[in-house]
Amino acid sequence: MTNNNTKIKQNKSLVIVIAAIAATGGLLFGFDTGVISGAIPFFKDFWALTDKQVEWIATAGLIGAIIGAAFSGRITDLIGRKKVIIAAAVIFGIGALWTGWADTPTSLFAGRLFLGLAIGVSSYAVPMYIAEISPTKQRGALVSAFQLLITIGILVSYLSDLGFADENDMESWRPMFLVGVIPAIILFIGMFTLPETPRFLIGKGREEQGRRILKRLEEPELVEPAIDKMKKEIALDAEAGKSWKDIFAPWLRTPLFIAIGIMFVQQFVGINTVIYYSPVIFENAGFASKTAAIAASVSVGAVNVLFTIVAMTVIDRVGRRKLYFIGTAGIAFALVALAISFAFQESLGDMAKWFTVGFVLLYIIFFAVSLGPLGWLIISEIFPLKLRGVGMSIGALSNWLFNAIVTFTFLSLINFLTATGAFLLYAVVGVVGLIWGYRYIPETKGITLEEIEEHWRKGTKPIDIK
Ligand code: BGC
Repeated sequence: MTNNNTKIKQNKSLVIVIAAIAATGGLLFGFDTGVISGAIPFFKDFWALTDKQVEWIATAGLIGAIIGAAFSGRITDLIGRKKVIIAAAVIFGIGALWTGWADTPTSLFAGRLFLGLAIGVSSYAVPMYIAEISPTKQRGALVSAFQLLITIGILVSYLSDLGFADENDMESWRPMFLVGVIPAIILFIGMFTLPETPRFLIGKGREEQGRRILKRLEEPELVEPAIDKMKKEIALDAEAGKSWKDIFAPWLRTPLFIAIGIMFVQQFVGINTVIYYSPVIFENAGFASKTAAIAASVSVGAVNVLFTIVAMTVIDRVGRRKLYFIGTAGIAFALVALAISFAFQESLGDMAKWFTVGFVLLYIIFFAVSLGPLGWLIISEIFPLKLRGVGMSIGALSNWLFNAIVTFTFLSLINFLTATGAFLLYAVVGVVGLIWGYRYIPETKGITLEEIEEHWRKGTKPIDIK
């Protein structure tokens, strides 16, 4: 008994170490999306760029992420999760040096585009890797470690931008980009020491190797049943043929709809208007100095990290559905409150800006405990083994595409509808998300990935999965 207990403890720490190393990919995702905001004012002045040129450079990372997510899913199913993440680490490293040393605006644009490829690839390959190595009962918390590192990456990028910003040196954007090479090296070296996922290996017929790894990770009584189920699924897949187009087969329409739907809600409640533009929002709300507005943004980053930790500690107990409903309802409420405080800005006077900060923080809290971790977690759980790469890359692609649409339209939306109108529109998405989620968010807590696959084959409705 004692022996067994020690073994389970060891497994737990091994799994945590593996998840932590892989999740460095999340840190790079967060860092490289966040770093641009602090760098813009400097490279803009350094090259005397127009607003249009700046917009192109800022957009390049997102375009790269869309391309990276769109075209690599098949590769993770063919050569494995580990090799793809190692390749992403190389791109992250080269991209950091390229952008830091860029000698023309065009080169900076190309460097950001290149870096974006790695952001897109890692955004689904890392959660997939973690989901596949995780013991069933901790899968929610461990995949949420990926989201935690995204939020830490965003916060670190705000702080490092603040640290490197030097009003007397228009080249201070260079070190902001260059520091990104450090986590890239950690991910690169770390991934070499980690195993390939047992599920990928077994899917490729390397059963013994897969079993050996699964035994070190999963609870003993779940190992053989999981392998049996995998073999059964593989046999069924073999009968059905081998094309990636099978992702559009009728039995997979529901998971596909869930993946695209959850990413739609995650992005269209406007999360990145807050993450990318919070200094602008706070300036609009009445903070006079740029420093005060940036300090308020750092608090957004910190609260985001803190409440992602809260989500991790409860997600495998409370379950996915409950968190989804509490979080999305809270988000809609905070957005309406934000809209109202902007509408009454004049009569609220000096108080208005504090209401804005308060409601933005409330909004972030609700996002961090729900849609943030859930988006990436749910898409890592719902696809069958053989098509997990393709399925998750479609989820990630939707995420980046929706992100791009919201980000590009936000400032014009404010001009057109006012801040009140924009936030009300996002609140409507939250309400639609609640209604949609009631039918479509599955409760995957405590269920093995293989059991989830079996549910789709049987035609179980998402709401009936238990
Ligand atoms: C989203 C990102 C967002 C981040 C904020 C992630 O789950 O996909 O778009 O910037 O959360 O924490």
